[in-house]
Amino acid sequence: MRLRFVWVVLTIIGLSGICWSAAPEGAAQFDSLKCGMCHKPDKKAAAISLSEIAKAYKDRDTLMKFFKGEARPLIESDKWGMMRGQLHKIKALEDPQKEALADYILSFK
Ligand code: HEC
Repeated sequence: MRLRFVWVVLTIIGLSGICWSAAPEGAAQFDSLKCGMCHKPDKKAAAISLSEIAKAYKDRDTLMKFFKGEARPLIESDKWGMMRGQLHKIKALEDPQKEALADYILSFK
């Protein structure tokens, strides 16, 4: 009985390890910058979902331009003001960190 419990726990840890390693750096950026306060994986919360963002952005380069402040937002929104301040935090990241964040978001396609 107890051994079975240990197996279940180990399996859960193992599986979450696999998911985590798919986009470890990007997911960590997403967490530490608290993007998930407003953006949930596939349902609209305070803001559009990650899968909606992934649909709007066809590739990493386009999303990188937005992260660098070189491209205007694609999604028209009257709530844009909520995002503007967040963009400063993204711009402050190193390029490889921005790329990891972009890959993480695009993985929700
Ligand atoms: C305070 C809430 C909030 C937080 C936190 C937040 N966002 Fe947003 N984000 C928004 C809103 C609002 C929009 C505009 C679209 C909408 O109305 O949902 C948006 C839009 C976006 C878009 C689409 C831009 C476009 O082209 O239109 C991206 C990409 C994005 N956010 C990424 C992020 C990332 C990465 C983080 C973490 C650094 C983050 N957001 C944190 C509220 C937030």
